[in-house]
Amino acid sequence: MRVVRLASETDFDGWRAAARALRGEGAAPADVLWTVDGGQASLFPAQAPQASAAGEGGFKVSRAFVDLAGRVALHRSPARFDLLYRLLWRLDATQRLLEIASDPDVALALDMQSQVNRAAHKMKAFVRFREVETAEAGEAFVAWFEPAHRVTEATAPFFVRRFSNMAFSILTPDVCAHWDRQALSFTPGADPADAPAGDDLEAYWRTYYASTFNPARLRTATMVREMPKRYWRNLPEASLIPEMTRAAGDRTTQMVENAPSEPARRIVGAAHRASRDAPFDGAAPTSLEEVAAGVDACRRCPLWRDATQGVAGEGPAQARLMVVGEQPGDQEDLAGRPFVGPAGKVFDRALAAAGVPRGEAYVTNAVKHFKHELRGKRRIHKTPEAPEIEACRWWLDAERRLVRPRVIVAMGATAARAVLGKAAPISKVRGQALQLEDQAQAVVTWHPSYLLRVPDAEAKARAEGQFIEDLKLAWSLADEG
Ligand code: URA
Repeated sequence: MRVVRLASETDFDGWRAAARALRGEGAAPADVLWTVDGGQASLFPAQAPQASAAGEGGFKVSRAFVDLAGRVALHRSPARFDLLYRLLWRLDATQRLLEIASDPDVALALDMQSQVNRAAHKMKAFVRFREVETAEAGEAFVAWFEPAHRVTEATAPFFVRRFSNMAFSILTPDVCAHWDRQALSFTPGADPADAPAGDDLEAYWRTYYASTFNPARLRTATMVREMPKRYWRNLPEASLIPEMTRAAGDRTTQMVENAPSEPARRIVGAAHRASRDAPFDGAAPTSLEEVAAGVDACRRCPLWRDATQGVAGEGPAQARLMVVGEQPGDQEDLAGRPFVGPAGKVFDRALAAAGVPRGEAYVTNAVKHFKHELRGKRRIHKTPEAPEIEACRWWLDAERRLVRPRVIVAMGATAARAVLGKAAPISKVRGQALQLEDQAQAVVTWHPSYLLRVPDAEAKARAEGQFIEDLKLAWSLADEG
């Protein structure tokens, strides 16, 4: 029996070096025991593989295998290193092994990989910092988090990119990540008691969560899937969930009673075409749920790296009106919903003035991840560029195919570009019905954030009036036929 003692639970480099050496020596998987330092290795005669024998030995593995192995190594299963070595061993005889999804080892590894990816995603979405004053570093931020798998080291660079100007520590039972504004370091796992309790930041999260909670959208199963209960106890806002869930029934009834009585019309017979020329990245989504999941996992451009999550559209699956904005802002990025921040308030007011019930429109964005740069602690919006708009049209086109709206309102230059497929000056094209290839009509108008920025009062009032008129036009076109 060959015994390998890895330096830590996430010692993937150690596993690679040992696996190469053992493979070169011809050690069969059944004859190798993988342990982490401090494990049960002493039960067996320890005989580490010789580093000198480590060379590739003419045996090359694909990048895909190395990437897969790197993720699987972060899984909590004690059998993960054994599984990886078995796969490596079998790759020699079956080089396209990873393509055989029905193979039990491959299926298990792929499943473990997606569990690890999911755990990393949850960490990005659910880490909540609390502000603390420290004698050494002054102001700092601390979060306590319990990831489902050992993703802390791999996910820490995301927090560094996102909060590079903030000194922070993320404490987890496995390992703690520390960023002092210059270097990222790691220390052994912490005790929950090390995470300071209650402060303004926590209160902020509670208020914020309550203000973005929409009872009509409450789907307990979806909520629990997206925010599993195991994460609730470390989320300040989670203490609000049971009460809001109880109250949701009443609040939803009230919202329905207050809604306009006119029944939503169906879109009948609107022929739809396949996506125009968007690059294809896999099977086309067949439902809006698939779009939402795909948007969140999307890697078609680099914007996902610094965003909390991808934000897909929301609204009736067969809405006759679709409204397209530019991209999620700071608050949308946190809430996972379009137009819930300051621009959303302008948008809501204009919809009300135009007599358009927001609940009957499908509201989405041309770009689904928040593009921004850090200034101090603030995340400042950056306008998406043409390649990002093009990459994300894959999702907008999927939403268009699935919802099949009669009319699409494009708010601002980014949305106009995505909807029309070419750049168009808003002042020239706004306020008219434009025919689209997929038989829908488009109405281009100002972006609500533009209305917030117009400095001159008269020009602002004029633009606001035009915005409302454009929404009215779109709604009347959607009502026709
Ligand atoms: N601006 C947008 O274009 N979309 C949003 O969702 C929010 C702000």
